[in-house]
Amino acid sequence: VLEVITAEEAGFCFGVERAIDMVLKAAGENEDLNVYTLGPLIHNPQVVKKLEEKNVKVASSLAEIDSGIVIIRSHGVAPEIIEKAREKNLKIIDATCPYVKNAQKYASQLVDEGYQTFIYGDEDHPEVQGIYGASEKKAIIIREKQDLNSVELKARVGFVAQTTKSPESFRDIINLVITEVKELKVFNTICNTTDVRQSSARKLAEDVDIMFVIGGHNSANTTRLAEICAATNTPTYHIETAAEIKKEWLSGKNKVGITAGASTPDWLIREVVQLMNEENKDVNVESNENVEEKE
Ligand code: F3S
Repeated sequence: VLEVITAEEAGFCFGVERAIDMVLKAAGENEDLNVYTLGPLIHNPQVVKKLEEKNVKVASSLAEIDSGIVIIRSHGVAPEIIEKAREKNLKIIDATCPYVKNAQKYASQLVDEGYQTFIYGDEDHPEVQGIYGASEKKAIIIREKQDLNSVELKARVGFVAQTTKSPESFRDIINLVITEVKELKVFNTICNTTDVRQSSARKLAEDVDIMFVIGGHNSANTTRLAEICAATNTPTYHIETAAEIKKEWLSGKNKVGITAGASTPDWLIREVVQLMNEENKDVNVESNENVEEKE
């Protein structure tokens, strides 16, 4: 008998859920207009496909859009992109997560106040590009604390972080800088969703015989969750859909743990829970399906 336990925190985060609602509303209300997201709305192929069925297309840049509605995804964009969309007379729906907006606002404020401004984050990530744009491209992006070695620190230094960075590593960087400067202004722009999900996944992985981590193979946060679960030595499978599960994985296993990235919709989680319960047909299963409770 398989006991199926879903992590307490799994699936869509607040910002992604909000963005999806905004897109669906825009598509529903504007059937006569072209609706585009600038880049895939989230790193989940199944959701992107569902949106396509509702006539929401993905544009990789504004150059591909001549008219209609452009949706800014939860990662946000640099202000110059919004400006360009305005010049093209596009209707803009800004689904930037409010937490990301804060990071943009604070980066801009630090630059205005004359601080040498740093963004702790991955330069290639669209969120960081948006925050960098908000700093009028004046901020310095550091990916790890070693990057500080090549920078001459000024007397007044300011910091923001990519929302998905780990609090520990941000603290490390701030600890390093604090005694090297006269004044340090730090905006803690880390969103605790990532941290809470990671701890909840780790805790569950330690308690089960096998872990399924559901989410896009192209989703960085899902991949990270899978790495964290695998590090507990519990066999861990990063899957996009229930169809990828092989029966032999379950052989000899009693407790199955399930978690999902911030870009994974509830229906994909539910499909996996259902498949596990089918394995238990005719048997009384103790199953904690808090995914269903959320609805
Ligand atoms: Fe926003 Fe945090 Fe999600 S910043 S998009 S709620 S991970």
